[in-house]
Amino acid sequence: MPAAVSIHGQWSTRLAFVLAATGSAVGLGNVWRFPYIVGDNGGGAFVLVYLLCILMIGLPIMMAEILLGRLGRQSPINTMLTVSRAEGLSRGWGLMGWIGVLAGFLILSFYSVIAGWALAYVFKAGSGGFTGLDAEGSSEMFGAMLANPEALLAWHTIFMVMTAMVVARGVRSGLERAVTILMPALVVLLVILVGYAMAHGDFLGGLAFLLRPDFSALSANAVLLAMGQAFFTLSLGMGAIMVYGSYLSSEASIARASAAVVASDTLVALLAGLAIFPILLAAGLSPGQGPGLIFVTLPLAFAEMPLGLFFGTLFFVLLVFAAWTSAISLIEPAVAFLVENLGLSRVFATTLVAMLAWLLGIAALLSLNVWSGFTLFDKGVLDLLDYVTANILLPLGGFLIAIFVGWRMSQSSVMNELRLRNMRAFRVWFFLVRYLAPTAIVVVFLRAVGVI
Ligand code: TRP
Repeated sequence: MPAAVSIHGQWSTRLAFVLAATGSAVGLGNVWRFPYIVGDNGGGAFVLVYLLCILMIGLPIMMAEILLGRLGRQSPINTMLTVSRAEGLSRGWGLMGWIGVLAGFLILSFYSVIAGWALAYVFKAGSGGFTGLDAEGSSEMFGAMLANPEALLAWHTIFMVMTAMVVARGVRSGLERAVTILMPALVVLLVILVGYAMAHGDFLGGLAFLLRPDFSALSANAVLLAMGQAFFTLSLGMGAIMVYGSYLSSEASIARASAAVVASDTLVALLAGLAIFPILLAAGLSPGQGPGLIFVTLPLAFAEMPLGLFFGTLFFVLLVFAAWTSAISLIEPAVAFLVENLGLSRVFATTLVAMLAWLLGIAALLSLNVWSGFTLFDKGVLDLLDYVTANILLPLGGFLIAIFVGWRMSQSSVMNELRLRNMRAFRVWFFLVRYLAPTAIVVVFLRAVGVI
């Protein structure tokens, strides 16, 4: 029988799990990645597919991932081994944990670089760097930052150290407070930005861009990107939510916790979109700016709005915090594994993983300037890391989770752990995990590579 409590501890309250999982989910994926990918892929139709993926694939897989974590009570690798053993299944399922550890490590490497941009913008905003800025000046400011490898390295290093410091102390201390105060603050600030966009931006144009579906703009690859974004933004498919689930008490409702996390995450992404596109359109910028989108667009709003210096600084501070609470969940699976299997101390395990991710991050940041000529599949290192993890590794992890829970585990163990009182709800969930999610993932993959 798997243990009832993880050796790494347990959340103090049920709410703590929801907060931590929300902290993991809400991050650069919502505020930085969502708007730029929507912008690159033509808006409305993409958003619709994304929302469908969140609801039909993301939510059910999140429940499956939490369920596995709570059953196994260990790092994803050992959780998969323990649950497989208890269910009489192959040890090969441990491989899924390894894919997750790899994905988390790869994501962290570039995530820290982007979070470094946000850190840099805290200081640009605070020192009045946005004052009097126009669209051209804003693009130049962003471009100048990317062209400066030393600055990027410094910010990337600071962010990685911040992340490692929290993980080394154990993910619970400080996390609860950070999430209860700072996440609502981020939402308030986004609402203020949406208000500004309503008053001064092309709000109807932005709204139409986000919500009016034009399916002719939607390629098979865009559908894959929408699905990848759903996994990325919900922190699914690599064991981050699983490891948080392993610290969850047995009584908590997995369905309710998942619904709360998914709802908050989606709210933040949509608010970010509603704030950014009207401002962008009014400034005459193109939505297809790529990864620089929010860094080019938002300073324009802060340049003009009353108290813009204050709001601008606060916004980027909150974005850094959101990224921070996400980044810690990216190394937690690997750290938990090293502690369990090699008996390393938390501090040493964290230092090791963070240093490796930091090194890879350097390659990612150099791809923005010094190594910009070096591309693979037409992408630089940073783009490639982002593309491969979000669109291949995470959906693959999600697919394996769905197969494991939907087909390999005995239905009675699944029901016992999920404990949905409503049988109809259970059947809907089980259908999504067993049939819809895995089929959808495979179809989207095959279409994107042109097989079907
Ligand atoms: N979800 C986070 C965001 O949107 C990023 C993240 C944290 C993540 N942990 C993850 C993505 C695990 C994939 C897997 O910023």
